[in-house]
Amino acid sequence: MVCLGNICRSPIAEGILKYKISKAGLTWQVDSAGTNGYHIGEAPHRLSQKVSLKNGIDISHQRSRLFVPDDFDKFDKIYAMANGVIEEMKQLGKEKFDSSKVDLFMNELKPGTNLDILDPLYGPEADYHQVYDLIEKASEAMIKNHRQPKQLIPTL
Ligand code: 4NP
Repeated sequence: MVCLGNICRSPIAEGILKYKISKAGLTWQVDSAGTNGYHIGEAPHRLSQKVSLKNGIDISHQRSRLFVPDDFDKFDKIYAMANGVIEEMKQLGKEKFDSSKVDLFMNELKPGTNLDILDPLYGPEADYHQVYDLIEKASEAMIKNHRQPKQLIPTL
């Protein structure tokens, strides 16, 4: 899960997905990163933490890290929160950039629309709630879209 600063949007996505994946009994590994590196080592934004916690998800332990080319080796899917983030990932990933692994996170909820989840950095708390709700819906859709259908065990 990738955004610009890795302090507002992608930490929420990491927190929600880890919670939902574990609840669904799946073993997928989730991480988040940012493309601009301005906040490396910092905890998520105060309002991202507050809104997540209001929804029962504690993201206070997360620390911002920079997106690196090796992320293309480590992960099967890399989701960007916005179109501009994909452009940044191309610059950072250089020859490792792999478009087949990259998608906009909103395309899981609304396929083919290429919508951004807007950066709430300078907005009020209400913007963080809006971002949280969108990420929550996209996370739910992502799990539904990618989980294997349950095997039916034939009875004798
Ligand atoms: P995020 O929000 O990408 O959702 O973490 C931002 C946080 C910091 C900056 C930009 C976006 N910044 O430029 O510092």
